Amino acid sequence: MPQLVGKALLAGLIPLGALALHGFAASNGLIQRFEDLKADPLLSDGVTLYSTNYTSSEGFNGLLRTLLNFFWPVVNGHDARLSLYSFMFGGQGVALMMLNLLEGMRHGNRGLMVSFITIYGMLYMVVGLAVMAPLYLLLHLLTSPTAHKPNKTNVAISGTSAQGAIFGTLAGYIMPNILMCLPVASVISVESKALAVVLWQAVPLWSACCALAWSTLAPKTARKNGKEPDGTAYVRAAYQFGVVVAGISHVSTLAVSFAAWLSPGIFNPAVASTLAPLGLLLPPNPLDRATTITSFLQGATWFLQWDYTMMSAAYMVWSLTLRYASTSARRRADSLALPKLLVSVFLRATLLGPIGATLSLVWERDEEAWKTSEPGTGQQKTRKSR
Ligand SMILES: *[C@@H]1O[C@H](CO)[C@@H](O)[C@H](O)[C@H]1NC(C)=O
Ligand SMILES: *[C@@H]1O[C@H](CO)[C@@H](O)[C@H](O)[C@H]1NC(C)=O
Repeated sequence: MPQLVGKALLAGLIPLGALALHGFAASNGLIQRFEDLKADPLLSDGVTLYSTNYTSSEGFNGLLRTLLNFFWPVVNGHDARLSLYSFMFGGQGVALMMLNLLEGMRHGNRGLMVSFITIYGMLYMVVGLAVMAPLYLLLHLLTSPTAHKPNKTNVAISGTSAQGAIFGTLAGYIMPNILMCLPVASVISVESKALAVVLWQAVPLWSACCALAWSTLAPKTARKNGKEPDGTAYVRAAYQFGVVVAGISHVSTLAVSFAAWLSPGIFNPAVASTLAPLGLLLPPNPLDRATTITSFLQGATWFLQWDYTMMSAAYMVWSLTLRYASTSARRRADSLALPKLLVSVFLRATLLGPIGATLSLVWERDEEAWKTSEPGTGQQKTRKSR
């Protein structure tokens, strides 16, 4: 969609995200529960005794306690709906992490505010995606040359960086996710699991560190066989990896959800209705002040649902804006260009999930930009002779 519309929508999504996430958590009683739980020696599941005296700072321990309390029901596997939802969210997270790492590596973003992805990543974790994602993406549309004038040079990512992004996503995001989901007692202790949850909070940092470690160490291996790896091949591999993981997790989530809807008999009857698409995907109206939570678990589920929904809206707007900016003037003159793009995006989001769809659109944008070249600069020639 046109840049101005994209920017206006993203600007509007920032306060809406805050309202749906934090406003709703305040009005439905979730924030009060967090406060009550801070003083409780039990975790939010009401049965696990655990202390978060990690540091000497009371405030920092409190923050870790809140995050642990929030994520404990997400990873303890007790609630089918929350587990399935988190699985879906985690799968989209792979595409999100890949996207973030790649955005930080683009030549055109070098030195710009939007390249400090670890800072935004940590803010995503602490403040919430619903608020920080539209903020970051608006900043991106406003400042990144890759957003309004994408070309081969400014969207470029080096081969070793792209390899780093793949390694960073695997080692810095997927592995911590697996660790914190290991079942207590049969595989790990409560202490180890709680520590895994606390350490998971810094996945944007771990991923960036792993990516950086890879790209500083990798040139040595590249030099061994005498040539730099071809950038675009690895960038494609990075996109493929993110899109495939997001797609598989999204389709399998939908498969379970539709199975629960169409054939509830195969599930525990109490669980089937919560897993069906509407129950799984649709949180209650956040503006209804009369809606209050009956359990911490319910509040945590709604919180996650709004975080996911608002994040998805922001990334869809952003990627549509990017993709539209990269369509040629000739194709844009076709009055059906935008409707066609919207249909394609809808289909992709259904199959790949919103962030998987975003990644595929950005990938397509890159493919378009790789084709561009300034006539007469001899760029094609130097590339061939290399
Ligand atoms: C944690 O610290 C608080 C006060 O800082 C103290 O009262 C409590 O006993 C400590 N808990 C553990 C398990 O060390
Ligand atoms: C690409 O865009 C940048 C600005 O971001 C510009 O400086 C550069 O000359 C452009 N390169 C090509 C090949 O068009």
